[in-house]
Amino acid sequence: MGFSFWREGVNMTNAATETKAQKSERLKRALNPWDGLAEIRRFAGEGFDSIPPEWIGTYFRWWGVYTQGDGAGVVGGQGGVGRALPFFMLRIRIPNGLLRSDQLRTIANLARRYARGTADLTVRQNIQLHWITIEALPEVLEELWRVGLNSIGACGDVTRNITGCPVAGVDADEICDASSLALEADRMLAGNAKFYNLPRKFKISITGCRVWCPYPEINDIGLTALPRVVRGKPEIGFALRVGGGLSTEPYLGVPLNAFVRWNQVLPVIQGVAELFRDSTQLREHRERARLKFLFLRHGWTPDDFQKDLERRIGFQLDPRETEHAPSDVYRDHVGIHPQKQPGYCFVGSAVLRGRITPEQMDAAADLAERFASGELRTTNMQNLLIVNVPRLQADELAKELGEIGLPVSGSPFFRGAIACSGSEFCKLAITETKTFSRWLVEELEERLPGFDQHLKLHVTGCPNSCGQHWIADIGIEGKKLKVNGQMLDAYYFCLGGAVGLHQSIARPVGYRCLATEVPEAIERLLRRYLAYGNTGENLRQFFSRHTDAELRDYLAGQIIAPVPRDLPEGRVPSGVEG
Ligand code: HEM
Ligand code: SF4
Repeated sequence: MGFSFWREGVNMTNAATETKAQKSERLKRALNPWDGLAEIRRFAGEGFDSIPPEWIGTYFRWWGVYTQGDGAGVVGGQGGVGRALPFFMLRIRIPNGLLRSDQLRTIANLARRYARGTADLTVRQNIQLHWITIEALPEVLEELWRVGLNSIGACGDVTRNITGCPVAGVDADEICDASSLALEADRMLAGNAKFYNLPRKFKISITGCRVWCPYPEINDIGLTALPRVVRGKPEIGFALRVGGGLSTEPYLGVPLNAFVRWNQVLPVIQGVAELFRDSTQLREHRERARLKFLFLRHGWTPDDFQKDLERRIGFQLDPRETEHAPSDVYRDHVGIHPQKQPGYCFVGSAVLRGRITPEQMDAAADLAERFASGELRTTNMQNLLIVNVPRLQADELAKELGEIGLPVSGSPFFRGAIACSGSEFCKLAITETKTFSRWLVEELEERLPGFDQHLKLHVTGCPNSCGQHWIADIGIEGKKLKVNGQMLDAYYFCLGGAVGLHQSIARPVGYRCLATEVPEAIERLLRRYLAYGNTGENLRQFFSRHTDAELRDYLAGQIIAPVPRDLPEGRVPSGVEG
């Protein structure tokens, strides 16, 4: 399908009267953006002004490319979207977080040459570059392909990067190494024309670990390994959850009554992807176009879902086995950990809120080669690991990583901080998040020097929850507050989010304060927790034992009336979803 065809398609309807969903559906029908590489090359030759709005707002995303905000976030824009610059963000897809040193070095080079040195490790194990120009884009893509990397399907209405346990294959305690399945699923779906047009984004996570570190619960498909014994024979398969997702309406995946055998994993993934693709109901509203809305809005039960799925795949799934969900899911992989291979360790660096420089990437690649096999991993907690390090050299490696600003230890605040892109680059952002979260961590380290409980501290710049504040112990969502006629950054608190055995969406507790007051509020809250002394109660238990009102009062330092989590009115504008 070439350029002239989609042009025609675009003009066929009266664009003024159509809804956002109708518009995206029309554009998607008119062109599979993965067929448009020649167009991208042409735009690169002719400059930014030659790019039609359909590419800027829609098609580019299929290539992991989306426009960058002007630094003011949503402010100053129109219709709930901020102004964009003639620069792009590029999300590089890293299935299961498996990365080689030569690949990381290539990303470092690209970041230095084309991205003003700005790169972020993301919560789906990707690496995102900023400041990319249209002129540079074809070359950036080609350099990525040369080392086996891709950005295809990193954004857009397609299967996003498939996440998996970053220590698959080396974890001493894993049930199995499921990374081969993540890679096979990636090959089956990324760039496959049969799946280029889904109702919206589609997220898959497959893990063989016991701790569920890639958060299967918040994916459209979450597969977690499970052993069973059939007629005396041990077998490893997977439990299956479907329909998870965060965003403005968080929902944890629904377990189906299924034990998915190893060789059934790909057909099941394909079946769910087809079910999603073929759902016309989900194509009516973009903001309700995720799989979860079959359950939330269209009256589907898990049973209905399973029947539809089994009809598509043509076989019945075995009934589910009892699963032992991990009781306290916190695994940042930071530090030195023994591998299943005797004499070897993996060494995990805490990358503060994911921001990493080209110099750090280069140095990490060199270290991975000098000390190990050149294999690295990216994690869902925005961290970077080096695997297959001989035990005797792990301390020296850790020391060198510390020297390049990638420490293998840190305060619970440093390790637990996650931040979304925020107003620095995102057009939907209400607040700045990356610099703020670094400052927040420094403040908390000063205020609570001996605090030793791990905690997930997630900062997200608007209700879309790219920083996953719904599954954090302390999740804060960006707002604006008017003070003396000036709109200032503020945060709304959601507490007690968890995945695993005690899964729960963080509770909006009715407290909001200026960004500058956040450290003080968290200090007050954590001091109340510490005041309970050495009772053995962890933060999660502390949060679940207290009411919203109590937690709000602890944050505020006094009894106050709850503030609602006022959501912005209207729809999320189409064409800006990350
Ligand atoms: C309708 C708008 C959007 C929604 C509902 C949304 C939602 C989300 C959610 C829930 C995640 C968490 C990933 C997970 O499920 O584990 C995520 C990831 C992310 N989002 Fe957004 N997002 C939106 C727009 C944007 C925009 C405009 C940006 C631009 C900066 C952005 C940047 C990111 C990044 C960098 C990630 C990291 C994950 C990855 O590598 O895929 N998002 N988004
Ligand atoms: S949550 Fe997502 S959409 Fe909102 S500011 Fe952060 S990156 Fe942007």
